[in-house]
Amino acid sequence: MPVSQSAVHLIDHLDRDHLRRALEHDVRTGLTASPKWLPPKWFYDARGSDLFTQITRLPEYYPTRRELAILREWAGDIAARASADTLIELGSGTSEKTTLLLDALTAKGLTAYTPVDVDPVTLLDAAHRLAARYPALTVQPVRADFEHHLAALPRPGRRMIAFLGGTIGNLPPGPREHFLTTLRSTLTPGDTFLLGADLVKDTSRLVAAYDDSAGVTAAFNRNVLHVVNHELDADFTPEDFDHIALYDEHNAWIEMRLRATRPMTVPIRALGLTVPFTTGEEMRTEISAKFHLHGLRAELTAAGFTVDHCYTDPDGDFALVLARA
Ligand code: AVJ
Repeated sequence: MPVSQSAVHLIDHLDRDHLRRALEHDVRTGLTASPKWLPPKWFYDARGSDLFTQITRLPEYYPTRRELAILREWAGDIAARASADTLIELGSGTSEKTTLLLDALTAKGLTAYTPVDVDPVTLLDAAHRLAARYPALTVQPVRADFEHHLAALPRPGRRMIAFLGGTIGNLPPGPREHFLTTLRSTLTPGDTFLLGADLVKDTSRLVAAYDDSAGVTAAFNRNVLHVVNHELDADFTPEDFDHIALYDEHNAWIEMRLRATRPMTVPIRALGLTVPFTTGEEMRTEISAKFHLHGLRAELTAAGFTVDHCYTDPDGDFALVLARA
């Protein structure tokens, strides 16, 4: 029998120009600020996406395993409550966990899956794999930035928006509120939102999850410098920056930083910019907020959602919240 080739066509909201302008803007803004910072979305070129996949398998990095455990136990319940026609997954990455959700949702009549991510390699890879695994499912990958293109997502039938893995934690409170409110405004009654969020816990476990002994997270953190070197003709020496992960208890977020180990003057030629670093100077590359269930509920409610059900793993490490528009 001939092997059927699944037809998957990417919808791309991130043309080269758009991406390039966004990166230029972010790097110029972040590296001329005091203290310096870079947004975490630029970690994820093909190498960064691959390093993140390695992170999800580290013994210290519990969120992925916890979320999987919740889905294993509750995907059927979630699917029955949502009865969605289309699943749209924001920040889908490798879509590895998604199969649990897709198994349950297709059993309840799901007909379409739209993974949304910034890295086209990972996105198309996942789309092809899932199209082959679910031949009856229409798989429509969309390359987009979930902070900018929510209104442009396809709208067929009753939709479930899934935002898994705790990626919501990358957004500081202001942008998070904006994201939730904007998302809510694109949904119609009957649509649901499935949100994965990491919960506040013992500081040592939180820090270990972002500072693993194998150094994979350190390589992931430094990858943003490789991306800037490659895309903007810059001259960072990534090994001259130490990986820092600390827990900010007041803000309840993990902060990743890169700390200069010597004085540097880094040309970023595409921007006509030279960036000085003093020894010990730190730049922030990511925040990963941790939540209390009551806070998460309150934020969803404030954005106009009705919380339907909260699921956690037996240890209370991670939460999945199902909310309705
Ligand atoms: C993909 C944003 C959920 O914050 O835990 C993992 C990214 N950074 N280790 C997280 C990440 C360092 C991850 N998210």
